[in-house]
Amino acid sequence: MSLEYGASSSEIREVTQLVVNGKSYDACVGESLLGFLFQNGISSTSVNLVTKEVRFAFCGMGMCSECEMIDENGSILRVCQTSIRRNMTLTSRGI
Ligand code: FES
Repeated sequence: MSLEYGASSSEIREVTQLVVNGKSYDACVGESLLGFLFQNGISSTSVNLVTKEVRFAFCGMGMCSECEMIDENGSILRVCQTSIRRNMTLTSRGI
């Protein structure tokens, strides 16, 4: 489904459903996943299993692994290095 969403009339982007920890959002295909999380106030990518400390992206360039989440296929991905795909589902690690 193509809709105009947060873009100029010359830039029409596809809107998809993105589910993060069970909550559904409208998101643009190809948008930065880390940018999307920031914009929507989502500040937890994992929880430390020992300390229960909430973790979130640190370096923003693929080096620290703090932004790893689990996708709908069970794969671990770094949100700072990933673009939004159609009908994507993400779960924070350790939750
Ligand atoms: S924020 Fe460091 S690897 Fe993604």
